Amino acid sequence: VDVSFIPALRAIVGATHILEDADLRRAYETDWTRRYHGSTPFVVRPGNTDEVAAVVAACAGAGVSLVPQGGNTGLVGGGVPRAGEVVLSLTRLNTLSPVDAVGGEVTVGAGATLAQLQQHVRAAGWNFGVDLASRDSCTIGGMIATNAGGIRVIRYGAMRHQLVGIEAVLANGQVIRRLPGLRKDNTGYDLANLLAGSEGTLAVVTAARLRLIPQLPSRAVALLAVPHTAAALAVTASVRAGTTGLEAAELFFSEGVELVRRHAGLPAPPVGTSPAYLLLECAAPANAADELSSALSTIDLPTAFATEARQREGLWAYRERHTEAISAEGIPHKLDVALPLDRLAEFEGRVRQHLREAVPEARPILFGHVGDGNIHVNILGLDPDDDRATDAVLQLTAELGGSISAEHGIGVAKTRWLHLTRSPADIAAMAAIKSALDPRGILNPGVIFGMSALRE
Ligand code: MLT
Ligand code: ZN
Repeated sequence: VDVSFIPALRAIVGATHILEDADLRRAYETDWTRRYHGSTPFVVRPGNTDEVAAVVAACAGAGVSLVPQGGNTGLVGGGVPRAGEVVLSLTRLNTLSPVDAVGGEVTVGAGATLAQLQQHVRAAGWNFGVDLASRDSCTIGGMIATNAGGIRVIRYGAMRHQLVGIEAVLANGQVIRRLPGLRKDNTGYDLANLLAGSEGTLAVVTAARLRLIPQLPSRAVALLAVPHTAAALAVTASVRAGTTGLEAAELFFSEGVELVRRHAGLPAPPVGTSPAYLLLECAAPANAADELSSALSTIDLPTAFATEARQREGLWAYRERHTEAISAEGIPHKLDVALPLDRLAEFEGRVRQHLREAVPEARPILFGHVGDGNIHVNILGLDPDDDRATDAVLQLTAELGGSISAEHGIGVAKTRWLHLTRSPADIAAMAAIKSALDPRGILNPGVIFGMSALRE
């Protein structure tokens, strides 16, 4: 990188917001999984949208590539420098506008964390439709760029479904400002939705207008011991049909619970040990517990209920602490696939069998959002560059009509397998959009398409 334009950047953001020191850069250079890392000449931390635009324009002028970064909680290597790119950290853009109580909307800076947003809107009597375990660190901009999913997709959809408008900086430094809070706006292409899931390759998200949901004070959680995935799906289907407020349906297995218990020092689940577990949560203005227990009344499986916040969290811990427990054990291969619901049980059985036979060193830990057909296949026990298990799992996913990434994205981790579940026509259309919006390829090079695709 030609660093001669650093003085120009200093003039834009102030000297203290260019981090050149190796110690200061380190946290930005390695991702949360510790699997993806690189080095950056410096981290630049603009404080508002105009500064982001000026920084991007200066980098474009110098032909310098950028990696936009939020809370650095991504799981596919899409938010860290890989080949000497400058890291553009958005965490200082953390403004939160007053909640619009008539429309149920709020405007949020890209750098606000999910927990900050939740606290802000809850204080005004509202809630936000997306929730996930990394809420204290993940930022709204990163969540939009990756179209984050999480534990409430079954009811409220993913991040793209919360978007009413967006503000973003294009690769040439121009700013798109679409934050008017208009619920109806059919004036051409929906740029907010184009950027949702674009993984920092098309523009830098600087702010968003988000739809809020009512705060539902009555909540109930049920943890069930289920014999297998097919049973979890059957219970989920009947609870879905018998309730109006199902907000989460999470599946996990004995191997994950054992790991979580060891890592977090938790007792056995109150339903005893079981090959598989299903966690359900209902939320309603009132009587969520009645709704959930009556939907489960005909189901004869060991079940624990919780309505108080602390007890609900106690049941959730067995599911929510999977990610940290797995990472404490080693650097996992993290696969995040979606299957048609009627192939999910078959997938789970075949993945386990295939790994047992073909990659016996692999130690799979499965869990996921069963209502969305989304299974996280985490594999411990393999070297980071040993792709045998990844290859087999993603091939099987494609064979069964699934997606190789349900919610984490492609990043740099999955580029080689993108063609499995996106057609040549799909990829050509995406590449055309990429080259139209970022003709010099300075935004997050290598992400989604891979490095070789860009060099061709
Ligand atoms: C989750 O569902 O917990 C997240 O997708 C994180 C993960 O897969 O580890
Ligand atoms: Zn997930």
